[in-house]
Amino acid sequence: MIPRLAIRSNALRHAAKAKATASASASSSFSAIHRYSTQIFRPDGSSIKVKEELAPLTKHIRNTILSTGPISIAKYMQTALISPVGGYYTRGQVFGRSGDFVTSPEISQMFGEIMAVWYVLHWEMLGRPEKTSFVELGPGRGTLMADMLRAAKRFPAFAASIRAVHFIERSPELRKMQHEKLGCSWESTRMVEDKNDKGTPVAATSADGLTVRWYDLMEEIEGGSDCVPMVMAHEFFDALPVYKFEKGAGDQWSEILVDVADSDAAPMAAAANAGKVDANQLATHFKYVRSRSVTANAALALNNPKFSSMFDKGDHVEVSPESARVMMQLADWISANNGMGLIVDYGQDWTQGDTFRGIRSHKFANPLSSPGLMDLTADVDFSYLRYAAKGRAQCHGPVEQGAFLHAMGIQARLQQLLKSTSDENMQKTLVDCYTRLTDAQSMGRIYKVLAVLPKSSQAVPIPFAPPSKEELNTPKVEKIVR
Ligand SMILES: C[S@@+](CC[C@H](N)C(=O)[O-])C[C@H]1O[C@@H](n2cnc3c(N)ncnc32)[C@H](O)[C@@H]1O
Repeated sequence: MIPRLAIRSNALRHAAKAKATASASASSSFSAIHRYSTQIFRPDGSSIKVKEELAPLTKHIRNTILSTGPISIAKYMQTALISPVGGYYTRGQVFGRSGDFVTSPEISQMFGEIMAVWYVLHWEMLGRPEKTSFVELGPGRGTLMADMLRAAKRFPAFAASIRAVHFIERSPELRKMQHEKLGCSWESTRMVEDKNDKGTPVAATSADGLTVRWYDLMEEIEGGSDCVPMVMAHEFFDALPVYKFEKGAGDQWSEILVDVADSDAAPMAAAANAGKVDANQLATHFKYVRSRSVTANAALALNNPKFSSMFDKGDHVEVSPESARVMMQLADWISANNGMGLIVDYGQDWTQGDTFRGIRSHKFANPLSSPGLMDLTADVDFSYLRYAAKGRAQCHGPVEQGAFLHAMGIQARLQQLLKSTSDENMQKTLVDCYTRLTDAQSMGRIYKVLAVLPKSSQAVPIPFAPPSKEELNTPKVEKIVR
């Protein structure tokens, strides 16, 4: 048993305080922005002049804005996270104490073990199908999958049913870590050349003899398989791009967009990299602006009755149509293949307005600074995911992570692990990890679990209560107070 430390939710506890400030500027500035020599103001009031060579990703975003005008936050977020030209997740080593954040499976093996038990119970409920496969969206370092597969071995009939693991992962570096975590052999590995000619795994055989495949998109997974899919999306949806809108007078919405900042107000990533300023104090090459009129994005994303009356002038909403697309695909797929799924993430069961944020070195950071060098994330709107799945699959929950883990027996597992060691430090660490995962002040409340079963299923998954009529039909909306 190796305890895993640090926590992403240290930052999340303060999520409500993290408000990205939208500039009141109503127009884009298209001139005088080619100067890269600029003045940086330190917190103590002193300043330095810095000549900066822009990173390729910053140049790319900047040039895009200069040629097409301000871009949506969704486009900025997607580019900064997964662009092959220096997108954040292409770096790979972003997890853990030395990285930017830590996730539940990286805190303790108990998390993956409890998740595995959920799949075993539902495999039993489905009548023990002969062939199953795990499908994980955004597997990170592969820790959760490795823990689930190891725990599955305690249930030999279930373990024998697992034929394949499908990973939805765009990052070549993370694919390699997942390959290593599952002990895949290089002889069995099929690679495609990536941009840097390093090669990206697309198929391999794990140490346990499972077929492992990697995909960029869910749509790439071939249909027609006779394996019952067991889907897991842990901290995946929070990485999908959000658009942000502001309610104006009447039913008018404007969009909050990303524009290039005036050059002499733009502190420099190079200065941070040279150790001259704290990276978390950095301002940015970019700024928020408000569209002058309703954008096509606003018209499409807000084409839903819940946005017509519940909001007041000045309210912000974040909407992630990409999350809806993935959710629809996932719901159809679970229904077509009689599968099951869990979505675990931080967020609320309603629409929110100002949760888009950057995370760097375990602290919040301005999301518009240093694209590619920090995680970008937004709270998940579970009501929107349920709405997207409506008529395609049965959604249950969300329930809070603490309640889910307790109902699934995390305390019993903790007791077992405590008995397995007489080392007091180890025992203390185990209790700390359990507390971090389950405590309402830590990850127990802000993280939530949504279960997805086929639309024809009559079963109520453990430990979810049957959904109310209201939950099935109406996405919850909470009026946003600014
Ligand atoms: C916050 S990490 C979570 C990792 C892991 N699930 C965990 O909990 O440790 C997000 C993961 O989603 C992947 N990801 C982010 N955006 C993606 C996208 N649009 N398509 C596919 N994978 C994506 C990242 O590469 C990374 O593996």
